[in-house]
Amino acid sequence: MFKHMPRYEKIWLTLGAASLVVFLAILGFMAVGLGLDAPGHMDTIVPAQAMQTPPFDAPGLKQIGEKEYELVMLGQVFAFAPGEVNIPEGSTVHFRITTPDVVHGLLIPGTNVNMMIVPGHITEFTYTFRKAGDYLMLCNEYCGVGHHLMMGKLIVQA
Ligand code: CUA
Repeated sequence: MFKHMPRYEKIWLTLGAASLVVFLAILGFMAVGLGLDAPGHMDTIVPAQAMQTPPFDAPGLKQIGEKEYELVMLGQVFAFAPGEVNIPEGSTVHFRITTPDVVHGLLIPGTNVNMMIVPGHITEFTYTFRKAGDYLMLCNEYCGVGHHLMMGKLIVQA
């Protein structure tokens, strides 16, 4: 088939094909090796069953230590559950959040809480609220017609 091709051309063609194979092999190896996971060490969950899967079947605040809480949340079109959270000043909150529907976000202005809520994943983040006040919990990923209505309140009491 390559009979009439100059010799050097065959060599380059072979090298090109070989490097492609090596490249794909490395890529495949990396994908398997790294597990192709989304960033931030996320656990997985079946989105359609998220609302029946503990602990997301009962979203809410759970005290796990002195001024330390686990906050299990659901983000869904177009609200957060729970929609209002009360904690004392200086509390460390371990957020665990997922969604049964589409991609949402959880942004709390004035903090560095900025989480992406992805169907099939449990997103975790820890933050210590040192300043008392009313904080807004906002969805910052466009999720549909009610996106701008999707918000909650986190009250840090002095
Ligand atoms: Cu949920 Cu935007």
